Amino acid sequence: MESYVAYNPTKCIFGKDRLSELKNEIPQYGKRVLLVYGGGSIKRSGLYDKAMEYLQEIDAEVFELAGIEPNPRVTTLHKGIQICKDEKIDFILAIGGGSVIDGTKAIAAGAKFDGDIWDIVTKKATAQDALPFGTVLTLSATGSEMNAGSVITNWETNEKIGWGSPYVFPKFSILDPTHTFTVPLDQTIYGIVDMMSHALEHYFSPSPNTPLLERMTESLLSTVIETGPKLLKDLQNYELRETIMQCGTIALNGTLNQGMFGDWATHGIEHAVSAVYDIPHGGGLAILFPNWIQYAIQQGHTQKAKQLAIRVFGVDPTGKSDVELAEQAVKELRNFWVSIGAPSRLADYNIDDSKIQLMAEKVVSVSQSGFVGRYNLLKQEDVLAILKMSL
Ligand code: NZQ
Ligand code: ZN
Repeated sequence: MESYVAYNPTKCIFGKDRLSELKNEIPQYGKRVLLVYGGGSIKRSGLYDKAMEYLQEIDAEVFELAGIEPNPRVTTLHKGIQICKDEKIDFILAIGGGSVIDGTKAIAAGAKFDGDIWDIVTKKATAQDALPFGTVLTLSATGSEMNAGSVITNWETNEKIGWGSPYVFPKFSILDPTHTFTVPLDQTIYGIVDMMSHALEHYFSPSPNTPLLERMTESLLSTVIETGPKLLKDLQNYELRETIMQCGTIALNGTLNQGMFGDWATHGIEHAVSAVYDIPHGGGLAILFPNWIQYAIQQGHTQKAKQLAIRVFGVDPTGKSDVELAEQAVKELRNFWVSIGAPSRLADYNIDDSKIQLMAEKVVSVSQSGFVGRYNLLKQEDVLAILKMSL
């Protein structure tokens, strides 16, 4: 194991009918509340009206920022930062999926920063403070509801960059599985792929001696593989939504990387693809991750993929070489994702090879060492090879 500090101050309020907790949680931070949400799903589902009712009951003065895009854009977040500064906002309430929550983290840090929030995202500056904020999660995928990470897109420069700060842990997150009942089939699929990818990023780790964390990660993957297909046939099933919601949060709230530090190159590559083509994050991961594993196997890294094949996909190891077993994991993962309706090639999003060199450059440009990943160190030409395998 590697030395680690475990720290997660977010209060996770999980279960049915917990929205009224807004009335207990928000007043301690003040009355001037900025409500942040996306393109309107919370209005259609009725969640907006219910939240407004509770905000009125605590006499909150509510300001609004609607229209946070999937893959949230910094230009929209600048508007939120300005509202916070002009209106002396005390607290931000994010209602939505990962994009709304990530955007809110940038607004919260930007509201306490004199410069441009983009400088914090690009690490030219560091957040020194943030406005307090809470979330009501409406889509299970990213884990953003209980972590201090955020991924922001600059559409003018075609960059999509992850950043984090201990100041941007949500104060609380309300996780009511019924709030995800209206998530459409495609977004439910992307969420399943994303949470599985977070588990896989942890799993493909060079950290030694992590038996418990590997078993916990395998268990999370097996749970999603068992539950996901049932949920896709029964989108309003409370128990299935509940299980998937818990998996999504635990996959990226610090539980699975206590001393087991993962690879994360696939996420870096996906972010570059999304930055250029604005595709859904989970869709990009479904295309790239099996190819990333295949490439690692070709470079001699078979152990984790072999273990994944045996322990998660139940492959019988009798008479098979390490490489055969490892490659079986790639097939099983690809087949599972295709079976639930996820894409498998960049061509599924009409992406050809015209910009893959540019994307490979973007992936490596965010790294100071010129390498990305930890389990399998990739140079720019390796990233290009994985993108070519994905066409
Ligand atoms: O905008 P609205 O109208 O709310 O619609 C959204 C959006 O169109 C819709 N949706 C959300 N909840 C719904 C719903 N529709 C119906 N009913 C509901 N209950 O779903 C669409 C996608 O929403 P989005 O928030 O973009 O999806 P997701 O949660 O997958 O977030 C993706 C973003 O998070 C980043 C990704 O890169 C991407 O930008 N990530 C953030 C991470 C983090 N902070 O830790 C880690 C992840 O690896 C990821 O990179
Ligand atoms: Zn992800």
